[in-house]
Amino acid sequence: MGEFDFIDRSQSNAEKYTLKQKLFGTQEVLPMWVADMDIATPACVLDAVRHRLEHPIIGYEIMSEHAYEAQCDWVARHHRWSISAEWLSYSPSVVASIGCAIRAFSNEGDEVIVQSPVYPPFYEMVRSNNRKLVLNPLVQDNQGEYRFDLEDLKAKITPKTKLLLLCSPHNPVGRVWSREELTALGELCVQNGIIIISDEVHCDIVFSENTHIPLASISPILGENTVTLMGPGKTFNMAGFSISTVVIASSVLRERYRIQQHKIHYGDGAVLSHVAFEAAYRQGELWHENLLNHLTLNRTMIEQWCVAHPIIGFRKPQGTYLVWLDCRALKMGDRELRDFFVQEAGLGLSAGLGFGKEGSGYMRLNFAVATEILERALNQLSNALKRNGYG
Ligand SMILES: Cc1ncc(COP(=O)(O)O)c(C=O)c1O
Repeated sequence: MGEFDFIDRSQSNAEKYTLKQKLFGTQEVLPMWVADMDIATPACVLDAVRHRLEHPIIGYEIMSEHAYEAQCDWVARHHRWSISAEWLSYSPSVVASIGCAIRAFSNEGDEVIVQSPVYPPFYEMVRSNNRKLVLNPLVQDNQGEYRFDLEDLKAKITPKTKLLLLCSPHNPVGRVWSREELTALGELCVQNGIIIISDEVHCDIVFSENTHIPLASISPILGENTVTLMGPGKTFNMAGFSISTVVIASSVLRERYRIQQHKIHYGDGAVLSHVAFEAAYRQGELWHENLLNHLTLNRTMIEQWCVAHPIIGFRKPQGTYLVWLDCRALKMGDRELRDFFVQEAGLGLSAGLGFGKEGSGYMRLNFAVATEILERALNQLSNALKRNGYG
């Protein structure tokens, strides 16, 4: 398959496999949980790392200006957002950046808004930094589409509300927020002195009928009020390089973030990651195009399967390679639902409840796998439903 290879990771140290027993109590599941892909990291990235290894010293190095510029160019091309290298700083992980930003822009006891259901570390970062978690759950409209609930948000804002953690595109519900939605949310936050930390790590996995809008690109005012987290980890399946960036247009916020970063002293990361980062953003274009084509095919397969199995509710993800399956019609408790997927269907998915109580009755499936694997998984699920009298 040349540039685009599916890899059997079962004999590697991939978390998806090594944690199977611990998470599911058995080895006998197809793992479709943690958010990385069974697709080889782009050859251009691996080649660049091999090339760097020809130099025999792997010492301290800083992120170069041209590595940052590679990301700036990518963001300008793909998201029509003009950012400058001086706004960027290195981070070993997006979750670490969330923690650092929480510490930089709020004090212990301050309130941080989280829009549930959401990627679980959002909650953990607020709690472990002794901030007060305030939930502003997403709501579903008549069509079942998830929306922000701005009325609820307005009612919850107090003088202690300092931050809102935004997930855009949204894991797990798969929404790509529209310009109008983001503008309304962003303006409400600006009016109330709430800084937005916008986790946009899934920004490059967006399907053709949708467009990712970086919150900070919408207007200079929103730009000055937003801390954007981005990186190549999801886009190019290279989470193991532990490299991402924090983008801050406001020099005042940048300085506050820098002070906090300095206290943690996570430095500038590893040289092989710098090389991988630059190669991905400079040369990963074609690979990324192939990736979106493949994910689109897999998404269609799931859609067709759900049409044939209406007991499982489905909304097409607009972005991310994660699908949020509505299993409430099965009328099982959450433990029973999880056990059904593991023991009856042989599938290792992420249980919805892990994303917050609004996730009760849902399961999240990662479809960034070979089409044959997805087909096998869906067959296993069809058979399990049939055997258990669900049609
Ligand atoms: C929304 C979101 N943010 C952050 C991460 C993790 O990023 P990192 O590994 O860079 O901490 C994930 C991984 O699934 C995610 O879905």
